[in-house]
Formats: sequence, C-alpha cells, structure tokens
Amino acid sequence: MSDVIYLAEGDRVALRYLCLQDFEELTALHRESADLLARWMPGPPIVTYAAFEAYLARFDEPVHEGFLICRRDTGAIVGRVNVNNIVRGTHQCGTIGYSAFASTTGRGYLTEGLRLLVGHAFGEMGLHRLEANIQPHNQPSINLIKRVGFQREGFSPNFQYIDGAWRDHERWAITVEMT
Ligand SMILES: CC(C)(COP(=O)(O)OP(=O)(O)OC[C@H]1O[C@@H](n2cnc3c(N)ncnc32)[C@H](O)[C@@H]1OP(=O)(O)O)[C@@H](O)C(=O)NCCC(=O)NCCS
Repeated sequence: MSDVIYLAEGDRVALRYLCLQDFEELTALHRESADLLARWMPGPPIVTYAAFEAYLARFDEPVHEGFLICRRDTGAIVGRVNVNNIVRGTHQCGTIGYSAFASTTGRGYLTEGLRLLVGHAFGEMGLHRLEANIQPHNQPSINLIKRVGFQREGFSPNFQYIDGAWRDHERWAITVEMT
C-alpha cells in the first residue's frame, strides 16, 4: 500500500488501522495460521470476504478499534491488535486482543507493535488503562505482555468460550502510571 498512514512507527514495525484492502493479505495469514490461532483466539479464523466484512463492521462502533502491525521495510502485515470494549467517562479503558501469524511469530514484531499500541492508546486515544485476558498456559502471550509492561491482576475462571470450552484466563493490565 503506497498511501499508507501509520499511527506510530518503531524501528522495525509500524501501527496502522485495518481496512478493507487488507482482505487478501490478512486472510492468507489467517489460513496459514489456523492451527496457531484456534487454540488461543475466540471464533474461527477470518478466511472469507463475508467474515472479513463482518469483522471490519465491528470497528464502525466507537467502542472497538482494529489495528495492524506491519513491517516498516516491506509494509507486510505481521500482527494484528484490537482495542475492544472501550469505556470512556471515569474509566477510559479498553481490552486488547492480539495475534501474530505462523510465519511472523517469534521475531519480536509483536513486542514492538504492542509497545506502539500502548503509546497510541495512552496518547491519541486518551485511554488510561488497557487490559489483556490470557489463558494460563499461553506462555508466549504471557511472556509478551510482561515484556510490554503489563502486570498480572487476577484470575478469571471460565472467562471466555474458545476452542470448544469455557477457558480460564489471567487478567493482566497496564495504566498510564506504569509507563
Ligand atoms: C502470543 C503471540 C502474539 C506472541 O507472539 P511472539 O511472536 O512470541 O511475540 P514477539 O513477536 O514479540 O516475539 C518475541 C519472541 O521472539 C524472539 N525474537 C526473535 N528475534 C527477535 C528480535 N530480533 N527481536 C526481539 N525478539 C526476537 C524473542 O526472543 C521472543 O521469544 P521468547 O518469548 O521465547 O523469548 C503469538 O504466539 C500468537 O500469535 N499466538 C497465537 C494467538 C494468541 O495466543 N494471541 C494472544 C491471545 S491472549
């Protein structure tokens, strides 16, 4: 994409909004990553145009924002991160959901990308707190969120329905004061 507008840029990756033109690249990544995503992410991987449109429509609501993490040198998508369930007023908080892909995980892209996301959320978006809910055995995700500066706050039994069962999650969070 030549006319891409980045919201934040790091050494290797940059953050931008997800858009309709990302359909082919993103669904190819979802296809190659079906096994990786199924165990940890809610819902089926997005591999059809209808599913992609429905997913994008979610971000028409002001309570959800959808971002991509892209390599700065090639523009290739290496991860995605959403800020969901944004509550304004006296909370100014949101819950993040994120993933890398089979061909992009284990390279540090998500660490850099989530740091950019936290900066954007606490800057441009005016949020004060971000939360992440992670299954206790998802060690790569726990390692990642710790590196980004989140702290473990608690344990939520049967928190979310993923891969055919209600899964326990750990609740991790970061506030502006912790950055
Ligand atoms: C969870 C998930 C996003 C973690 O992604 P990740 O690829 O481990 O995170 P990063 O891109 O920051 O990569 C970090 C890893 O790359 C390694 N790495 C390799 N080259 C690197 C480089 N040049 N710079 C930094 N780190 C590098 C790091 O050592 C680190 O590995 P470690 O945690 O074993 O020490 C990914 O596993 C995933 O998408 N899982 C499926 C979906 C999911 O679980 N989502 C979260 C639900 S809560």
